[in-house]
Amino acid sequence: MATMSVRIYGDPVLRKKSEKVTEFDDDLLVFLEDLAETMILEDGVGLAAPQVGVSKQIAVINREPGNPVTLIKVINPEITLFGDETYSMEEGCLSVPGIRGKVVRPDSLEMTYQDEKGEQQELYAEGFEATIIQHELDHLDGVLFVDRLSLAKKVLIKGKLRELSKRGREGG
Ligand code: CO
Repeated sequence: MATMSVRIYGDPVLRKKSEKVTEFDDDLLVFLEDLAETMILEDGVGLAAPQVGVSKQIAVINREPGNPVTLIKVINPEITLFGDETYSMEEGCLSVPGIRGKVVRPDSLEMTYQDEKGEQQELYAEGFEATIIQHELDHLDGVLFVDRLSLAKKVLIKGKLRELSKRGREGG
């Protein structure tokens, strides 16, 4: 197992729409392990493949960091239903260090995805976990949580983002 370096805001890979996974092989298993290990090392509750430079529809999510029971490895996910209520939470992102902000999202969701063996799975999530899932799935579409902040907050963080973006482009 190995950990990978996390790409920073400004790196073009974070803005790409990622590709569907078609091969469920040993390379995928190793990648999933490495992604989960990197998430733990970086103290995150979720990490998407584009964040380590791999433009594929893969993410790991864990609402209880370090607990192997709550770890979900998600491949080719699709949200099939959103709840009617909203839930707002202050979000952060390993790819956007130093910035946090409140994002309003649907409070619950149903999703389908494939597990590491390629088997179709279904999942219902609400609250905190639903937020993490939406945040990670956004990464697969090239969307970052800062895109979903209020206009006022966007204005406030503009300078910080510009600074990060310089770093991100160099690291990419
Ligand atoms: Co993120």
